[in-house]
Amino acid sequence: MKKIVFLTGAGMSVESGFKTFRGNDGLWEDYPVEQVATHEGWVTNPLLVNNFYNILRKKLFTAKPNEGHCLIKELENDYEVMVITQNVDDLHEKAGSANVIHLHGELTKVCSSKDPYDSRYIEQLTEDNCDVAPGACAGDGSLLRPFIVFFGESVPMIEPAAEIVAQADILVIIGTSLVVYPAAGLVQYARPRTPIYLIDPDDTPAHASGRLTHIKKGASEGMKELMKRL
Ligand code: OAD
Repeated sequence: MKKIVFLTGAGMSVESGFKTFRGNDGLWEDYPVEQVATHEGWVTNPLLVNNFYNILRKKLFTAKPNEGHCLIKELENDYEVMVITQNVDDLHEKAGSANVIHLHGELTKVCSSKDPYDSRYIEQLTEDNCDVAPGACAGDGSLLRPFIVFFGESVPMIEPAAEIVAQADILVIIGTSLVVYPAAGLVQYARPRTPIYLIDPDDTPAHASGRLTHIKKGASEGMKELMKRL
């Protein structure tokens, strides 16, 4: 079976009711990124950061995957499908995708702030119990924090992701402005002859590579178009 690798970003989840980060009406317009998505922001005001992710998490529990997510899952009938996502939502999993790597963490999980990757203290939250209470602690006594990779922190999943991109027979990028590194650099790992498709309704400077076949549509319509072309 051929291997098809998806690299997805915030635009993938727009049709499920989520905002992108950098658009005119983007999430970072409402909440200053320095306060809610950086390591310094977390250290300065963990209460504010936990509140912000509590709100997003509550929204996620009611969100549904869109047709784009479902069509990616459907391709598993004919391809070996790997999804590498920058999104912290679980909509690829909800659509049934079997192989999903989260580069920037997972909103449904919380962890120790002393060592976010100590698996003993990573907790999966449920819909009925999805709020982190002020001052709540992990099993090691440190403050519970969202299992999110903040700006200024390393991205441990980047190496396995690069290996997967290097093995792709087809690479499909959906809904990302490709400006945040190291995720944006993953495209460079595709083999020279691997076709690369981009599904995004807009142009951004980082999309202007001769190597990309741009399907200028939203995630769902773009996936339908991709499936015709494959
Ligand atoms: P951006 O907000 O930078 O880019 C979203 C992209 O989605 C843009 O290129 C839009 O044109 C496109 N888009 C909008 N509507 C769409 C639709 N219906 N279908 C498909 N595409 C659509 O988001 P990311 O590139 O994902 O990191 O941002 C990367 C990282 O920056 C995020 O993971 C997050 C953020 O800071 C962390 O939180 C660590």
